[in-house]
Amino acid sequence: MNPTTLDGELQLIGVSKRFGGLRVFHDLSLTILPGEVLGVIGPNGAGKTTLINVICGKLVPSAGRVLLGGKDITGVPLHAASRAGLIRSFQQTNTFRSASVRENIARAARFSGHHRDAWTGIARMLEEFELAPRLDEQSDKLPYGLQKMLGLVLTYVTRPKVLLLDEPAAGLELGERKRVDAFVRYAQTELGCSVMIVEHDMDLVRRLCPKILVLDAGRVLAADVIDAYVGTVDEEAA
Ligand SMILES: Nc1ncnc2c1ncn2[C@@H]1O[C@H](COP(=O)(O)OP(=O)(O)OP(=O)(O)O)[C@@H](O)[C@H]1O
Ligand SMILES: [Mg+2]
Repeated sequence: MNPTTLDGELQLIGVSKRFGGLRVFHDLSLTILPGEVLGVIGPNGAGKTTLINVICGKLVPSAGRVLLGGKDITGVPLHAASRAGLIRSFQQTNTFRSASVRENIARAARFSGHHRDAWTGIARMLEEFELAPRLDEQSDKLPYGLQKMLGLVLTYVTRPKVLLLDEPAAGLELGERKRVDAFVRYAQTELGCSVMIVEHDMDLVRRLCPKILVLDAGRVLAADVIDAYVGTVDEEAA
């Protein structure tokens, strides 16, 4: 291992993914340090979810390597990657549907071997996200926004080193989106996670992500040059 590599640092080296003749992305290299947040933007079908799938081991890359804390985890099965601390959320919700909120938290903690400290550090989050008064309600009966926030809380209780969030704000109302900000700050400051956020919400990306990967072009842009690109995206969306 490179002695300068940090525990929890995520590195992609020359990663490519193709499906048959479809080249989704090519020769992608990036590093996310613990406590850093990288935004990933790009149009529908650009390969954002595919990138998360390749990093978390659901898909094997066509070329390149994925390193976690300097250790090669390329193509390791999903459960092994999650045991190593690499956790993703889903574009749709990711709760145990028929279980209560309380049971969801207990299960996520149990699966990740953190059953002893399942409830540590989440009381404030549960209050803030209006989940505290609903611990005994069935999760799939909750309003959609609360299901999405529960999905994020579930990633937190597994104590990830690397957190991959696939459109955490999708389908949320404007006020609810601020909760995603709060969640990412918790993960960043209290767990020291390396965070990757895939989002279409450019305001959220601007607020949270000093570094942004534009998947369309396969480039990593720094915060000071991103405005030019984001400007063109906003114009297209208008
Ligand atoms: N398992 C698969 N087999 C074949 N093609 C796939 C597979 N998964 C994704 N694709 C294709 O790869 C491309 C990228 O898809 P992906 O879902 O990663 O896009 P995305 O950027 O997440 O889009 P969105 O913003 O709509 O969520 C698309 O053309 C998609 O059809
Ligand atoms: Mg997607």
